[in-house]
Amino acid sequence: MFRFPAVERHGIVWAFNGEKPLFDIPHLPYEQDELLLRHTVLDEAPVDPWLIAAQTMDVQHFLLQHGFTFGDPNDPNDEVTATGYSMGYPLRFDTPDGSRLDLRVDIHGTNIFRQTGTLDGRWFCWLTALRPVRPGVSRPYFVLGARRAGADAAADEAFLDRAAGVMAGMLADDAPVLLTLRFRPGLLTRSDRALARYLEYVRKYPRDNPARDHIT
Ligand SMILES: [Fe+2]
Repeated sequence: MFRFPAVERHGIVWAFNGEKPLFDIPHLPYEQDELLLRHTVLDEAPVDPWLIAAQTMDVQHFLLQHGFTFGDPNDPNDEVTATGYSMGYPLRFDTPDGSRLDLRVDIHGTNIFRQTGTLDGRWFCWLTALRPVRPGVSRPYFVLGARRAGADAAADEAFLDRAAGVMAGMLADDAPVLLTLRFRPGLLTRSDRALARYLEYVRKYPRDNPARDHIT
């Protein structure tokens, strides 16, 4: 029998595809009892997790697909930071409905998305386990969270409703592209530098099937 290393965090049981985890599950900057968390499971998507994760590093799609405008003179393509097992950058946008997003987004491994930052100045987080269901198919599991601001639980819920609305709008923008997304070598441009770096990271990422001897 093979046991995948597993840990519970943020209301999700995470399993590592290997004998020993190469990296920790992303942390949040607040204790769990300070947070209001909401969990959502999406329908299956006919794409591998790393392809969904690629959207995170696709700077241009935030402008073209989501209609955001940069709230920062710096180009995120120049602000990418990476470890051997994660990659991300800061993103500051104004949305078409006038909201301001000031975020740090990272991909951990090739199928964990972590976003923390503020929506109009108030902190929230969005974690996604881009679960591989079978080759070529994902079923994302989201955790959206806000920090409890005090006794007014209804105000916390209302803020989370608003953050959920912004995120749902982004998912709706992304869906038509995500469901048919493919990359072909040679089509990236200078403004796709972060995406190119991510694709290189995925290409070199360790692969494993520690349970292969137990699959019949
Ligand atoms: Fe997107």
